[in-house]
Amino acid sequence: MNILGISGSPRRHQTTDRLVQEVLSAVEGETEFISLAGRKISPCTACMACVKDNTCKIRDDMAELRPKIMEADGLVFGAPNFFSNLNGLSHCFLERFCQFRHLADGKLLAGKPVAIVSTGTLQPEIPGEIIARTLPYYQMEHVGTVSAQGAAACFTCGFGETCTIGAVRGMYGKGVQITPDLIPNLDQQPEACQEARLLGKKLAERLRQKRAAGPSPA
Ligand SMILES: Cc1cc2nc3c(=O)[nH]c(=O)nc-3n(C[C@H](O)[C@H](O)[C@H](O)COP(=O)(O)O)c2cc1C
Repeated sequence: MNILGISGSPRRHQTTDRLVQEVLSAVEGETEFISLAGRKISPCTACMACVKDNTCKIRDDMAELRPKIMEADGLVFGAPNFFSNLNGLSHCFLERFCQFRHLADGKLLAGKPVAIVSTGTLQPEIPGEIIARTLPYYQMEHVGTVSAQGAAACFTCGFGETCTIGAVRGMYGKGVQITPDLIPNLDQQPEACQEARLLGKKLAERLRQKRAAGPSPA
């Protein structure tokens, strides 16, 4: 069993990375974790040069991820909420899945189970909903989603207590003082970590079931 975990957060070792790793930690078998932070992944340019061979021609870091995605038995993908949407890096990554949609009736990723990790400060569930909506385009199977609260940059930007449009004032109001206990932290969310491990087990179990059932008919 070979599970690939990918975090689309541009911040390393924060909530999204950690929750993806938590899911992977519960999988018995081979796992790999990849952070998209610092990688250059452009949006799909709709050039459609991938229609004849299911291979995107844009020369960037997606090229090295393509075979890993193809070869993985299952995926864990996590993304943070940026302005009630997927963050750009995660969005670009998913747009580039367009290359998997053509030859073989677009079934290159069909049936591959996916566990989703979703983070945000006020609405942690939004990225998960958006990722889940993309899976049917590739006939991938949604095994489940885990969400957790992460710390908006407003908690550490230096202006969080006074900024009238930031997350800190939005959550705690005028006069707020940022103390460490106020800053969202995965360590304070054991139930989310537990849920992530259960999701990892569910993903592994789904793969065992699929293996026992044998190859699906073409
Ligand atoms: C540019 C930007 C925009 C954000 N917008 C939202 C938002 O609209 N809603 C929300 O719940 N969180 C928002 N957040 C907070 C992040 O989703 C949250 O900090 C998340 O934990 C980031 O993931 P990370 O911890 O893996 O870096 C935003 C953060 C950034 C940097």
